[in-house]
Amino acid sequence: MSEQTLTPKKVHVETWGCQMNAADSEKMLAMLAERNYILTDEVESADLVLLNTCHIREKARHKVLSRLGVLKELKTLNPGMTIAVSGCVAQAEGQKLLKAAPQIDVLCGPGKIDELPRLLDEREKTGKAALAIGFKREHSEPEPVAAPPTLTGRREVSRYVNIQQGCDNYCTFCVVPYTRGREVSRLPKDIIAETKAMVASGAKEITLLGQNVNSYGSDLENSNDAFIKLLTEVAKIEGLERLRFTTSNPHDLSEGLANLFSQERKLGRYMHLPVQSGSDEILERMKRKVTRSEYLERVQWLRQAVPDIALSTDLIVGFPGETEEDFQATLSLVEEVKFSFIFCFKYSPRKHTPAARYLDQVPEDVKDERLKRLNALQNKITLEQNAGEIGRVRPVLFLYESRKMPGHYYGRTEHFRLVRVKSDTPLTGETKLVQITHSNKTALLGDLIQLQ
Ligand code: SAH
Ligand code: F3S
Repeated sequence: MSEQTLTPKKVHVETWGCQMNAADSEKMLAMLAERNYILTDEVESADLVLLNTCHIREKARHKVLSRLGVLKELKTLNPGMTIAVSGCVAQAEGQKLLKAAPQIDVLCGPGKIDELPRLLDEREKTGKAALAIGFKREHSEPEPVAAPPTLTGRREVSRYVNIQQGCDNYCTFCVVPYTRGREVSRLPKDIIAETKAMVASGAKEITLLGQNVNSYGSDLENSNDAFIKLLTEVAKIEGLERLRFTTSNPHDLSEGLANLFSQERKLGRYMHLPVQSGSDEILERMKRKVTRSEYLERVQWLRQAVPDIALSTDLIVGFPGETEEDFQATLSLVEEVKFSFIFCFKYSPRKHTPAARYLDQVPEDVKDERLKRLNALQNKITLEQNAGEIGRVRPVLFLYESRKMPGHYYGRTEHFRLVRVKSDTPLTGETKLVQITHSNKTALLGDLIQLQ
């Protein structure tokens, strides 16, 4: 082996957007590790800079372009630097992005991440930008069974496992079906093998990822309960303490899945169930395929299974045609459900999507103002709920030590609430009983319960 092949190359990874991108970054890192790359925090001296991008809202795309501007400068100081762009901006823009940013060496869509090593070789051989975009049409085999490295380079207690690519729903605002393609489920045996490998490497909590996890497996078998079967199998893995999943489309949430929460304790007491709007008219224009009352019925199923289940949701304000009355319906839904927290976004028109062509777009200042009111309402609810935790004793799975305050550890309750405690012994990876003593909008503070 030559001296050169022994010297590791350094890769710096930046990941935007959803958890799915985080999981994809880890997969790419695993392939790069096989090729003698090591992770670095320092972008300036990296041999390879990988930007794994998001296209869900216009703002996300702007961030990538401005980052590419900075990298162009860095590349003049470090001419050996290779710049690779993956993710949904790569898929959506393809050649157009290469023209706008010729400093890019490799471009790779989310359906083609397996090709990253080949693209790097091609770039090196030809000296020209190498590109692979397009969708994954079926599960590729064989799959590696080792746990991919973490993006932090440290052991992570909570990790993601991808179970499904793409989405078949075509909500009228959403670009995902155009950037990630149709739904393709990963085989249960590969999901189980990867989860086992992650647990063996120290993970205690696994989140199964897909755009529409409730319809998992509809392309693999002719049954409606493939996802329930998968969850039941994964939950059997020894050493796995918590099993979460996201995202559930309310349209495909079954009563059977809701009931599973009462039987399978590892599922915890929390679920993310995106509703997007509280107005039936807007929901119809979004093609969400559930009405407000159908959504509330699903909330009821979950609360029958676990009466104190914590719920979170996604909401869009200023979807085309949204009137003040429609927005009031969103506020009243938030009041009615009492979510633990919400992710709310201003509607952002996306190319190819039907809603971008609707004529009744809502002015930006109206969106801003609605976003503020919605956040103010939710802050009040979150504060109330968090204050209600004071005095309670909760099992907390500890995830990491605070960087700013060594000796303080962050973990989550079964309800997904963030808790911080001080401890003289390391807590990362441990589940401990904590008495909650203080609360604010973002976290709870507490003391470890000392068992005799
Ligand atoms: N699969 C998920 C959503 C994935 S996108 C589901 O079924 O709901 C994540 C979130 O981004 C969405 O829930 C939505 O609230 C938001 N989002 C998607 N497209 C958007 C757009 N064009 N403008 C603003 N927010 C958007
Ligand atoms: Fe997007 Fe709707 Fe699918 S929000 S990811 S098209 S379920």
